[in-house]
Amino acid sequence: MREIFAANDALRERTGGFNADLPAGYFILVIRAAGVAAGPMTGFDSAGMDTVFFSGTTWRSILVVNIRTPR
Ligand SMILES: Cc1cc2nc3c(=O)[nH]c(=O)nc-3n(C[C@H](O)[C@H](O)[C@H](O)COP(=O)(O)O)c2cc1C
Repeated sequence: MREIFAANDALRERTGGFNADLPAGYFILVIRAAGVAAGPMTGFDSAGMDTVFFSGTTWRSILVVNIRTPR
């Protein structure tokens, strides 16, 4: 698989995106199942977020989840 993904940027992006989005969805469900509020957001400055948190890594943000415990 390494050679297949290395030779195909589009396939790598699509597969990686799906493999990140799916656990992000489960992450939201788990937070809510624990009785905690989860507010997912894609409308954020992802380039700024990546600079602050992921500089020097290959990581990139896909989602922000605001989490609030019940009062
Ligand atoms: C993947 C995802 C991204 C979202 N992005 C935004 C966003 O950028 N801005 C926003 O106001 N709501 C966004 N929402 C919607 C809210 O986070 C929230 O889910 C919505 O207001 C409905 O509330 P509820 O999920 O508690 O029913 C997003 C929801 C999802 C699932």
